[in-house]
Order: sequence, then C-alpha cells, then structure tokens
Amino acid sequence: MKLDGKVAIITGGAGGIGRGLTRVFVREGARVLFVDTNREAGLALEAELGERAVFHHRDLSTEGAAEAIREAALIAFGRLDVLVNNANRSTPAPLLDTTPEIWAQAFGSSFTPTQRLMMVCHDLLAESGGSIINFASGAGLTGSPTQGAYAAAKEAIRGVSRVAANEWGPEGIRVNVVCPYALTEGVKWWTENYPEQAAAALASVPLGRIGDVEADIAPAVVFLAGDDSRYITGQTLMIDGGGLMVR
Ligand SMILES: NC(=O)c1ccc[n+]([C@@H]2O[C@H](COP(=O)([O-])OP(=O)(O)OC[C@H]3O[C@@H](n4cnc5c(N)ncnc54)[C@H](O)[C@@H]3O)[C@@H](O)[C@H]2O)c1
Repeated sequence: MKLDGKVAIITGGAGGIGRGLTRVFVREGARVLFVDTNREAGLALEAELGERAVFHHRDLSTEGAAEAIREAALIAFGRLDVLVNNANRSTPAPLLDTTPEIWAQAFGSSFTPTQRLMMVCHDLLAESGGSIINFASGAGLTGSPTQGAYAAAKEAIRGVSRVAANEWGPEGIRVNVVCPYALTEGVKWWTENYPEQAAAALASVPLGRIGDVEADIAPAVVFLAGDDSRYITGQTLMIDGGGLMVR
C-alpha cells in the first residue's frame, strides 16, 4: 500500500473528486480526516470506510475553520503527513455580471481555506516531512469565459503553492498542484448548463474521455502524497487526459 502509516486531511472529501480521494487514500493505507459541508454524504462515507476515515463536518469559509480542522486531525490520529486542499464552490458568470458574492464564494471556499490550512498545518507537516496537494483548474490556465472568480481563485492557489514550495522545501515539505478533469455532479451540471463549452472541452482531450475519479484522478494524487514523488515539488500536474499540455 502506497500510503501506509500516513495521516491525511482532505477538504471537500465527501463529494465529487474528494469522495474518490478519501476512498482511495484509505484503500492505500492512509488514515483520513475528511471535511465537508454535506453532513449526510460525510456520515455515509464514514460508515462505509470504517475507523480509518473520520468525517469532520465544517464549512471551510467560516472563521476558525482551519484551526478546528487541524485540531480534529490531531485528536483523531495524532499527526499529519498529507494535506489535500480539494474543496471548491463557485458560480459561473460573465465578468461584468460577477457580483461581490460570487467573488467571495470562489475565494472563500478555495483560496482562503487552502492558504489558511497550509499555514496552520505547517508545523505538523515540517515534523513529518509532509506533502501538500492543492487543487487548481484548467479553467484558470486558459481563462475560460464565465469562470472569472473561479479562475482567479485557482490561479491564486497556484501562486501561493509555488511560494510555499520554495520557502518550505528546505524544511522537507513538498507542495504540488493538480488540475483534474473528472466526471462529477459539478461537471454534469456544467455539461447540462454550458453544453457547447463542455463539448469543446471533451473534444480537446486526446485520450477522448472524462476521467474517472477513483481510477484516473485519485492514483495521481496518491503518487504526489506518497514517497514515490519525494523529489517533486512546486509543480502543476494536469490530470486531464492531455486536455492541456503545460510547457
Ligand atoms: N471535476 C472536474 O473536472 C474539475 C475540473 C477542474 C478542477 N476541479 C477541481 O477539483 C476539485 C474538486 O472538484 P469536484 O468536481 O469534485 O467538485 P464537487 O463540487 O463535486 O465537490 C466539492 C466538494 O467540496 C465540498 N465543499 C464545497 N465548499 C465547501 C466548504 N466551504 N466547506 C466544506 N466543504 C465544501 C462540497 O460539499 C463537495 O462535497 C475542486 O477544487 C475543483 O475546482 C475539478
């Protein structure tokens, strides 16, 4: 097992890609504290996975969330090796229609909790020689129309990830970013509401399909979380069937 003995925090870990990550991390031997606003889905996943998965019900955009999550991971498992900042909630809109609430939602659910959790977990990750994996998006790299707030928050995540990789590398902490393309409820919603964009996105994927969360996305994240990637930091890994080839 690739994550034997490791303890991970996974945000947004009860739904979409996060649920697949929680399942596969546990399968690979990790113990996982997973955080989500969806109580029903979290409790169901906790019951499915047994004692190596602990659900922490919390809204990441609320005051003190990062500190509470760190504390919960310590109480549950006593250490921390991997931090996966996966959660996100955003509302597509043309730039001129992007309200302060839409900006706040995108940054409040992804960039700010990512940055806060990195800061408050720094000491634990320095102790374990840990790995941070932050979720960004191809929409940020390409500047997809209607994704202004989302794209900005995701590129801010890539920026702070590179700074942390530089500053914390000497302490043994690795920080990498992934940009997935996977079939989740969110992508299904996007496909239904923005069919032309979704069709164009799929047409640009050389491997010709949308990724499966557990079979295609999670194994790449496991690689970045585990010791096989010990000499890799500061990188953005596209897990998107080749849809975007970053040079
Ligand atoms: N699915 C894709 O193809 C795709 C493409 C590019 C990037 N991404 C990125 O991958 C990550 C996962 O995407 P997904 O498609 O699984 O999304 P999703 O919407 O299906 O799942 C997100 C999960 O995060 C939780 N969440 C959202 N806001 C939260 C908050 N404030 N506090 C706690 N939990 C919260 C939700 O309840 C949900 O369980 C996101 O960062 C997303 O931007 C996904």
